[in-house]
Amino acid sequence: MLRSRILSTGMYVPPLRVTNHDLSKLMDTSDEWIRQRTGIEQRFWVEGNESTSDLALKASELAIERAGIQKSEIEMIILATLSPDHEFPGTACFLQKKLGIPGIPALDVRQQCTGFIYSMAIADQFIRNGVYRNALIVGAEIHSKGLEKSDRGRDVTVLFGDGAGAVVLGAVEVKDPKKDSFLLSTHLHADGTFAEELWTPAPGTGNSKDRVGASELEQGLHWPRMNGKTVFMHAVKRMPEALNEGLKANKLSPADIDLFVFHQANLRINDMIAKQFGIPEEKVFNTIQKFANTTAATIPIGLDEAVRAGKLKKGMLVASAAFGSGFTWGSAIYRF
Ligand code: UT7
Repeated sequence: MLRSRILSTGMYVPPLRVTNHDLSKLMDTSDEWIRQRTGIEQRFWVEGNESTSDLALKASELAIERAGIQKSEIEMIILATLSPDHEFPGTACFLQKKLGIPGIPALDVRQQCTGFIYSMAIADQFIRNGVYRNALIVGAEIHSKGLEKSDRGRDVTVLFGDGAGAVVLGAVEVKDPKKDSFLLSTHLHADGTFAEELWTPAPGTGNSKDRVGASELEQGLHWPRMNGKTVFMHAVKRMPEALNEGLKANKLSPADIDLFVFHQANLRINDMIAKQFGIPEEKVFNTIQKFANTTAATIPIGLDEAVRAGKLKKGMLVASAAFGSGFTWGSAIYRF
């Protein structure tokens, strides 16, 4: 059977390390508060003119090189981000220009923290139907240019970091589904009832007369807003649900999974899920301490870090789950 599999991974974070102490000089916060509530110790922020597609390019070049293919063999680009280079066109088009591979489809996915899982699911459909052989999937974010670095924004600002992660998904003829590396399943969900629990209202046509005018700026509608407690409550319910759905569909138990690479929103969320499923600590690969929440990039960054750390090896069964703005959530189960 024709299926897709992860051929390679790549990641990039900018060089500027911003510690919790650094943030406490910009706003009323503390290292203690951030560590205790989230597990975050530091994050990386861009300096100067780097854009989201610049970070995406660096992660993509690594992934393509490690896949052992030429750029010209990529047949589709999917880029997930909530922090695009520009309002339009999509950031996938800017990445495509920088990669120098015109002509192939380039698609932006706007499912925030679940963006990478949505992207995998979309690429998988094209690959398993024989339409494309190699797809480049990227999660990339520059949050630092869109965070309110003041007391008013502290609840959101301390959570996010910049970074990009990429994988090349390639076609594979699966002969032994119990042993071969391939994407077993994805499960996707959304509930727009909660769209305004974590969002950036402006610019947008949902505002008054102007997409962004003096009034929107005055109200700070161009900064992200979050009802943290509601998001937390739903995350600890929806991520386990999606994970269970994936396990059940493949007749697997949590013990069958070799490594869990979850979205990184809060260490407490992932700890609660691990406890609920009886997953031993060493099977959950967390990166939030180092990179904070890089939204669409957390899972591909996690995969690449896990490979480099020797924790993720070919043939291992991996489960990912994510939850975020939208609300959106989902899971993916794959043999790496
Ligand atoms: O990937 C996207 C999805 N996002 C998430 O999954 C985030 C989910 N939510 C969370 O992770 C948590 O709700 C937070 C980490 C955001 C907040 O933790 P919390 O335990 O829910 O804290 P809280 O919002 O209830 O705030 C507690 C206190 C408040 O002060 P008072 O009212 O108790 O006096 C806040 O004003 O902490 C205050 N606070 C801060 N203090 C220091 C809020 N932000 C900060 C801060 N530094 N940065």
